[in-house]
Amino acid sequence: MCTLESERLILRAPRPSDIAGIVVWLGDFNVARNMSRVPHPYHEEDAEMFVAGMGPHREGKHFSVVRKSDGLFVGGAGLQQGAGGMEFGYWLGTPFWGQGFATEAASRLVTYAFEEMEQDSIHAGWFYDNPASGHVLAKLGARHNGSRMRECRARGREILCHDMLLTRADFLRKQAH
Ligand SMILES: CC(C)(COP(=O)(O)OP(=O)(O)OC[C@H]1O[C@@H](n2cnc3c(N)ncnc32)[C@H](O)[C@@H]1OP(=O)(O)O)[C@@H](O)C(=O)NCCC(=O)NCCS
Repeated sequence: MCTLESERLILRAPRPSDIAGIVVWLGDFNVARNMSRVPHPYHEEDAEMFVAGMGPHREGKHFSVVRKSDGLFVGGAGLQQGAGGMEFGYWLGTPFWGQGFATEAASRLVTYAFEEMEQDSIHAGWFYDNPASGHVLAKLGARHNGSRMRECRARGREILCHDMLLTRADFLRKQAH
């Protein structure tokens, strides 16, 4: 499992010392409600299974996002093979919102997908009532690619989800600006 680095962040494999942070930050309904597969309430065993590479998250590459300045665990990011191609996702604990971290982490992750995993395009979904994530994806250069109802485990129902497609060409074009 590789380690990815950006200006302010490190993306590395999840480890047991992340469990406390995962439970606190991902256990917050304000985070979980915007994710498709995260249960709520979120228990320590859920985090333990995730870090051990088991449970519903096992089919993918998952990274813990750590702040470089102090090594603090701030969130997660990952790649997963979906029905329509590779998908990426990201989340941050609420104290870390609004500092450009999601854009920075997602940008590093998709660079990895394009360069190391030789993907030409990659998907991500955002629930209609989570415009901040839609904005992150637009900033990366992703384009709307259709909408559908998608399960949200934390809310226990399906929510309208916008699928976004990011091509390597669009990403590079945005990076150049
Ligand atoms: C969505 C999330 C990842 C954003 O993280 P973040 O680090 O705050 O994001 P960034 O700071 O990189 O960028 C957010 C952008 O959205 C904008 N934004 C914030 N709230 C917004 C809103 N209500 N409507 C529109 N744009 C909004 C910000 O201004 C910023 O854009 P800017 O850089 O042009 O000013 C974070 O809120 C989160 O973890 N939420 C819970 C989990 C989640 O939603 N994951 C994504 C699942 S698709």
